[in-house]
Amino acid sequence: MRIVSGIQPTGNLHLGNYLGAIRNWVRMQDDVGSSGGECLFFLADLHAISMPHVPADLAANTREMVAALVACGIDPARSTLFNQAQIPAHAELQWLLNGTARMGWLNRMTQFKDKSGKNREGASIALFTYPVLQAADVLLYQATHVPVGEDQKQHLELARDIAQKFNNDFGNGAGIFTLPDPIIPPDAARIMSLRDGSAKMSKSDPSDMSRINLTDDADTIMQKVKKARTDPEPLPAEASGLAGRPEAANLVGIYAVLADSSVEAVLADYAGKGFGAFKPALGELLVDRLAPINARFVELRQDRAALDAILKAGAGKARALAAPTLAAACDALGLVRG
Ligand code: TRP
Repeated sequence: MRIVSGIQPTGNLHLGNYLGAIRNWVRMQDDVGSSGGECLFFLADLHAISMPHVPADLAANTREMVAALVACGIDPARSTLFNQAQIPAHAELQWLLNGTARMGWLNRMTQFKDKSGKNREGASIALFTYPVLQAADVLLYQATHVPVGEDQKQHLELARDIAQKFNNDFGNGAGIFTLPDPIIPPDAARIMSLRDGSAKMSKSDPSDMSRINLTDDADTIMQKVKKARTDPEPLPAEASGLAGRPEAANLVGIYAVLADSSVEAVLADYAGKGFGAFKPALGELLVDRLAPINARFVELRQDRAALDAILKAGAGKARALAAPTLAAACDALGLVRG
């Protein structure tokens, strides 16, 4: 089993990022390690330039994301942790795959339509061919499994289509690329804003009270939970009783994921109790789970030398893993490389 996944570097990391993607990666690293498989996790900095961006922010966000991943439990000694930009083979293989990917396939990608919006003519070529780079990211390492959110499923299917067509057209029966399977977490935790249970927790929400940042200390976390929006009803005994109560559902959901429990089990403990009792318990649980992450994150994010060393070591490992596949692809296409 070889697991490969990427994440775009963003700043202001919060509980939603942790419980959404990062915690899932940490679990896979721990599970796969015990079964002899391996994990490669990378910062998709090359993808980040497909949209207008501020160069200094991209560099800072890339390092900040490495600090967050390590603080949350990604161990650079066990997983290969790197940023795309240090492995030229990602961009090289993308070009090779551009010969195989079809305009019609890319025209069907919903993320391009969403991100380009009304301004399709003004969108970058990189935004259009973004899914081909994503295919290169995973095919380069012969990934067998790719953990992604539901929104990336279409890109993974495209990666499989590209791999299959390349194998058919140029493989002479040999499988140059492994067809990767997506792993979409069934219980993908959707963490909502603490101020509005219908909006996702987001770094771009103007209210800092809407989210729990990985940089928040214990007092701040307790305050934010205490001030979180709720309704006046006590907690129900059954999950169905949370219908139409998005704020309550969000808080119970956060509790359940952090406690490695289920919404039903949490409600069994708190049924009939009000938020005056539930919020302090949730606050303490959050502090308990986030305090160690916060401590490592706050320390590591300012140690630029350590972060760069982690990326450099990861890039070395990744380049070695990528080389044979890139060579085989060039060979299959008839590209002469000395
Ligand atoms: N497009 C993915 C996202 O926005 C990030 C990504 C880039 C990725 N390359 C990847 C995910 C390869 C999985 C595998 O979430």
